[in-house]
Amino acid sequence: MSDLALFGGKPVRKDPFPVWPRVTAGQKEQLLDTLESATWGIGSDAITTFEDRFADFHDAKYCIATSSGTNALWVALKAGGVTTGDEVIIPPYTFIATASAVLMANAIPVFVDIDPDTFNINPTLIEKAITERTKAIMPVHIGGNPADIDSIKDIAKKHDISVIEDAAQAHGAEWGGVKVGALATGGIFSFQSSKNMSAGEGGAILSNNDEFMDACFAYYNCGRQRGGDWYEHQIVGGNHRINAMAASLLLPQLQTVVEDMNIRDNNRKKLDEALTSEGLVPTGSYERTTRKANHLYLLRYKAGHFNNVPREKFFKAMQAEGVFTYAGYKPLYREKVFNGQTDEFPWLKEVDYHEMSYPVTELIADQQSVWLTQNHLLGNESDTQDIIDAFEKVITALKHTPEIFN
Ligand SMILES: Cc1ncc(COP(=O)(O)O)c(C=O)c1O
Repeated sequence: MSDLALFGGKPVRKDPFPVWPRVTAGQKEQLLDTLESATWGIGSDAITTFEDRFADFHDAKYCIATSSGTNALWVALKAGGVTTGDEVIIPPYTFIATASAVLMANAIPVFVDIDPDTFNINPTLIEKAITERTKAIMPVHIGGNPADIDSIKDIAKKHDISVIEDAAQAHGAEWGGVKVGALATGGIFSFQSSKNMSAGEGGAILSNNDEFMDACFAYYNCGRQRGGDWYEHQIVGGNHRINAMAASLLLPQLQTVVEDMNIRDNNRKKLDEALTSEGLVPTGSYERTTRKANHLYLLRYKAGHFNNVPREKFFKAMQAEGVFTYAGYKPLYREKVFNGQTDEFPWLKEVDYHEMSYPVTELIADQQSVWLTQNHLLGNESDTQDIIDAFEKVITALKHTPEIFN
C-alpha cells in the first residue's frame, strides 16, 4: 500500500499557493490618479515615471515601456540592425516569442543548444553557428537565471554583431552586481500576467546606448523620430506603446519587487538545501551571477536514479500531493510554424527545422526538466516546507516502491 495521494493517500497540501498577480492599495490609487488625469497614453506621468524608475532599478540609462515583451523584442531586433534575410542566434529552449520576433523581423532564427546545468544558451557552441549573415545573438535569461553574458559579449564583439538580452523572465536578476537588460546592446522585459512584475500585458526595452534607443523609439512609435514632428515618419514602425493603465499597475510594484525577490531568494535557498537527491537536481548558475530572478524554479529529473520511473509519473504524483510541477517548453524547432508557414516566411525554406536535433535541449525538454512557477516561492516557511515534504514523499516512493508506478 502506498500513502501517495495519487493512490488515495492524504495529500501533503490542499491549499493553493500565493495567488499571482497580487492587487495592492498602491495600484488602486495610482490607477485612479491616471484615470482622472485623462492622459492614458504616451505623455502620461505614470508611463514616464515608470520608465525612469524601471531604468534606475535595472541599472540602465534608458527605458522605453512597450505593449508587450514580444513587441519589445521586435523593436529591439530592428534597432539592433536586424533586417530581411539576416540570421539571429537564439536558444531552442525558450518561449515561442524569442523565435517569432526574429521571424517578424524577416530574419532567420538559428538555434544553438543549451547548457544542461543552467538551461541557458551554451556559449561554447555559439561561434560555430556564426555566418556572414549573423546580425545578432539573443540569449534568454531562462527562468530569470542569467545567461553567460560575458562570453556572449566577447563573441559578439569579435564578429561585430549585436547582443539583445531576452530578459522577459529576469526582473531584478544580476550579473556581476549589475542588473540584466542593459549589459550589452539592449534588452527586453515582459510584464505579461505570469511575470514577476505584471500588468496583465506589457513590456520594456532597456539600454545604455543612445543610438540604439533612438532607433527603438522610432520602431515602437510609428517611425517617428525622437523630438520630431507627430506627422513625420521616416521608417516603418509600429505602435508598440504601453497603455498608461498598465504603467499604473507597474509603478507601485517597484516598491514591492525587492521584498518579493527577498522572499523568493530565501525560499529558493531552503529548497536548494533540502533537495539532496542525485535524481532531482536544481539548475546551477554561472560564476558571475550575483542574483537570480527566480521566475521559475527549474530542476533536472534523472530517472536513472529513480528506477527509471518516467518523469510524467513523477509529475502526476507531485500534482496529487498539491504541488504543481510540470515539464514546460518543448524544443522550439518542432513547432509547426517553422516548417508550416514557408509561403508567408519564404526565408524559412532554406532550413529544415523539423530535421534538427539539439541533444541537450531534447534531453532537458523531453526527459528531465521540472518546473515550479514563481508564486510557489512567495509563501511562508510552512508553504515551502510543504513543497519539500511533497518532493521527499514522492522521491521516497520512486526509490523504494517503484512498482506502484507501473
Ligand atoms: C522568454 C520570453 N520571451 C518573450 C516573451 C514575450 O513576452 P510577452 O508575452 O509579454 O509578449 C516571454 C513571455 O511570455 C518570454 O517568456
